[in-house]
Amino acid sequence: MRSAIVIDPTSATAIHVQIYESWRKGILAGRFRRGERMPSTRELSASLGVARGTVAQAYEQLLAEGYLQTQRGAGTFVCGELPDTLGQPLRVSPTISTASMDFRLSKYAERLDEDFRYAPQPAGFILFSRWVPDTDAFPVALWRKSMARALHAPASTLLNYARDPQGYEPLRQEVAAYLSRSRAVQCTAEQVVILNGSQQALDFCARLLAEPGDSVAFENPGYLGTRRIFTACGLQLQPARVDEEGIVIGDLHKQSRLVYVTPSHQYPTGVAMSLQRRLELLAWARKHRAVIIEDDYDSEYRYSGPPLPALQGMANDAPVVYCGSFSKVMFPSLRIGYVVLPPQLVTPFNRAKWIADRHTPIVEQIALTDFLSEGHLERHIRRMRKLYGKRRQVLVDALQKQFDEDVQIYGDAAGMHVMARFDDKAVYARALRNKVQIVNASDLYLGKAPGNEYLFGFSSVSERVIREGIKRLAK
Ligand SMILES: Cc1ncc(COP(=O)(O)O)c(C=O)c1O
Repeated sequence: MRSAIVIDPTSATAIHVQIYESWRKGILAGRFRRGERMPSTRELSASLGVARGTVAQAYEQLLAEGYLQTQRGAGTFVCGELPDTLGQPLRVSPTISTASMDFRLSKYAERLDEDFRYAPQPAGFILFSRWVPDTDAFPVALWRKSMARALHAPASTLLNYARDPQGYEPLRQEVAAYLSRSRAVQCTAEQVVILNGSQQALDFCARLLAEPGDSVAFENPGYLGTRRIFTACGLQLQPARVDEEGIVIGDLHKQSRLVYVTPSHQYPTGVAMSLQRRLELLAWARKHRAVIIEDDYDSEYRYSGPPLPALQGMANDAPVVYCGSFSKVMFPSLRIGYVVLPPQLVTPFNRAKWIADRHTPIVEQIALTDFLSEGHLERHIRRMRKLYGKRRQVLVDALQKQFDEDVQIYGDAAGMHVMARFDDKAVYARALRNKVQIVNASDLYLGKAPGNEYLFGFSSVSERVIREGIKRLAK
């Protein structure tokens, strides 16, 4: 039981009376449950910093009045039955005046508009509305082993604040090596900062690289998670179209300080940015002293041809902050992501991390290092690429079979979702009626959306259920 007692040493009321009153009120108000164990007089006197005799005096009074009872050898408890003479226990009533709760919020707080990220998942629905890893296919036993091994690290490592906010050094080494192997990112471990997912990376970019009121270029359509961060930070979003080669350079405003892009697999259209466009974007950013934020959120899952190299690795001096995450290749609740930074930006990111939350939890970082160094991650990715690749094919085939020329499918070369544009305008209504959840891409556009475009996440839906879902859509 928490003592939850506050003593006022300056009060004219004796301390034992204050203790007595606090417990009495707490018991009557139901804050301390009947039958609950009381701290011993020794524990309570130590936690309050008062003499043990003072606490004992208060307990004696509570015992005498029937609020407490003792059990030989077991300790002191809140009485199971309160004396009748006390009448109805006082409950804490929710009578706090709402006028006094009229807090003034900051502009930042007022600009926050998202409560929960995911739409509710109604029972009986086939859900194409999430592009998350299939948790049933994750090697949980191996992860448990890595976690167990991590817990054997010396107590001084496990229990203290980490030595530096940048992240566990062996993990940064593993991440740098992995990115160089798989994504052609050019970096050393000194340029890697471990963060709580890409979301924190994007949040820090917005705070550290732009001022409220600054203009930032944003793919249109684009990722809502980033859009909400930029909006909350008071940045002015400049939408730039996405064509079959990626973000349209002609749409960029020269005063934009940041350009947010998803070049490997544009979110949500799935377009891969062409080499020519990448070079143009790099040249544009250099010319206008803008920073490119490369969000490489799901590029590990490329189904045809080798993975596309990252924009970051195309030049030594690319003005790029590369953001990556373990949410798609491991599981999202891990909350571990990273940024790869030009060396000059490492210190500001480290400072921001220290101020925000000190560092990412250490046990998970150690376990992840083990998981990577044992080769489990890359084996898992190879297996998932096959699994998701088959599901993607089943989805594409089913859409084409059911809708034939009435559907155009985008972005199926990579990732965990596709975007489909239908000629048939009744698809969404039919989806709802037939219990299929799909995501309307219109929400991802700034300004007017073309309409009738929907996203289909396939990574965590079985082949059988995918076929059934698309059949229901076409009915
Ligand atoms: C475009 C994009 N970026 C980043 C993320 C990953 O976010 P996090 O690493 O915070 O889980 C997602 C997740 O859905 C995403 O869709």
